[in-house]
Amino acid sequence: MHTMHNHLIEKQFQITQQNKTLDSQKKELTLMNQTKDKFFSVISHDLRGPFNALLGYLDILVDDFETMDDSKKQEMISELQKTSQRAYSLTVNLLEWSKVNRGMIANEPSDVAVHKVIEKTLGLLQFSLQTKTQKVEFRNIPGRYMARVDPNLLQSVMTNLVNNAIKFTHKNGLIRIETSHNGEGIKICVQDNGIGIPAGQIDSLFKPGNEFRQTGTENEAGIGLGLITAMEFIKMMGGNLHVTSEEGKGSSFCFTLPDAPAAH
Ligand SMILES: Nc1ncnc2c1ncn2[C@@H]1O[C@H](COP(=O)(O)OP(=O)(O)OP(=O)(O)O)[C@@H](O)[C@H]1O
Ligand SMILES: [Mg+2]
Repeated sequence: MHTMHNHLIEKQFQITQQNKTLDSQKKELTLMNQTKDKFFSVISHDLRGPFNALLGYLDILVDDFETMDDSKKQEMISELQKTSQRAYSLTVNLLEWSKVNRGMIANEPSDVAVHKVIEKTLGLLQFSLQTKTQKVEFRNIPGRYMARVDPNLLQSVMTNLVNNAIKFTHKNGLIRIETSHNGEGIKICVQDNGIGIPAGQIDSLFKPGNEFRQTGTENEAGIGLGLITAMEFIKMMGGNLHVTSEEGKGSSFCFTLPDAPAAH
């Protein structure tokens, strides 16, 4: 009788555990499904735009090439260049993000000089910065900040955050990058004095089902995958991301990274 009772309690316990597992699997599946929906909506909606433009410009060029004057040709070719660049960056984002979701991103930490990665990122974004005549404030202290992370993940996170700062800040705006040590390791902040994010939207920025996104101050396009990917990469590196923003004033995206063991 006694053992029978115990047996029942044990069974009940097992069922409760199984229910919990099912519950969390259900949540995970729902999230994956939302992610998949987003993926297909991005492919069908956002990639179609630039490709329509490309095909349209090419049609005109092919049909009217003989009669078109050189300056018109030049204008169309630079439109083709801009649109191709946009289609390319959408595709790169999309592929990177889909790799994240299938667990296909490599994470091979080594000792990384954080400032070198930041300098490299700024170099790559020089063109966009110049186009919007924005200033970057960043004090490079070589060798001071050594993190134990995968350099490619860090580079991708920095590119996403600085890209956003450029995109959502007006011409002649200011972007500030600050690095410091805190209790958790190395803290990196990307700050801007741009358009900011409405208070109610900040928490939902990282949800795949979230549709909040804006075009840049110069109408720069985006698909709304940059932040979700950055967040995922920061988690992979063992850090976390903190956002503060005020509409009309600017935003600040801060994240932490583990110190390299040999660091002081
Ligand atoms: N620095 C910022 N200032 C103001 N709003 C921002 C900033 N960074 C992100 N946002 C808001 O968060 C949204 C999501 O950002 P995210 O980087 O994921 O997408 P995106 O830049 O629109 O597109 P993508 O990065 O995929 O090209 C943006 O559309 C924008 O509304
Ligand atoms: Mg972005």
